[in-house]
Amino acid sequence: MRRPLVAGNWKMNGSCEQNAALVDGLTSGDRGQQAEMAVFPPSVYVANVAEMLADSGIAWGLQNCAEQEKGAFTGEASAVMAKDLGCKYVLVGHSERRTLFGETDEVVATKVQRLVEQGIVPVLCVGETLEEREAGTTIERVGAQVKAVLDQFDSAGEIVIAYEPVWAIGTGLTATPEQAQEVHAAIRDMLVGYSADLAAKTRILYGGSVNAGTAAELFAKEDIDGGLVGGASLKAEEFLKISRAAG
Ligand code: 13P
Repeated sequence: MRRPLVAGNWKMNGSCEQNAALVDGLTSGDRGQQAEMAVFPPSVYVANVAEMLADSGIAWGLQNCAEQEKGAFTGEASAVMAKDLGCKYVLVGHSERRTLFGETDEVVATKVQRLVEQGIVPVLCVGETLEEREAGTTIERVGAQVKAVLDQFDSAGEIVIAYEPVWAIGTGLTATPEQAQEVHAAIRDMLVGYSADLAAKTRILYGGSVNAGTAAELFAKEDIDGGLVGGASLKAEEFLKISRAAG
């Protein structure tokens, strides 16, 4: 049985004051019975948010980590540091990292390795652009992104995959449950090629304009094991509703 994961990617939003209010709302509200919840604040706030979340049962993580272990890499934060902060998960290969910061599939695969070495669960983000969808190459593109990582991944380990169509991120355009399920099923099929056990246990999240109104239908699909939520995770009440939609 895969426990659903509802994860909030705060991106570059928040302040000390806003984060405290958001965390207070999440820890005092009803998250539902089923889902695990995780939040990904901007890295400068993670230590503070982690302190506020201690004993809450809500996990936290970084939105990115460096390819390197340590040293003269100004502005970067490493997987070792993420471990030091008690991060359970770290996002890797978010489409904004790929498009705005030039991260290739190879870079993403290296970051996954760094995290695995630290015992942190990578949340690998994959997804096609609108052009790729219209050209009919969605499965091919997403498959290549997954393969680049899994070819170097020990299938006895744990990974979470987040399918986030680029055209659905921050646009208000959610993939239909059927569109999302088709890609999730294709990812799960690919995982079988590595290990049946990996395919059965890996949570595949959907991301892209998920909100309290769309979550339940998406999460009801067989291969959708929760969500990676951007904008709607910044509002405690809405994020709690999304969490409850997972059961
Ligand atoms: P939105 O939910 O704001 O579309 O963002 C999705 C996302 O990129 C989460 O990582």
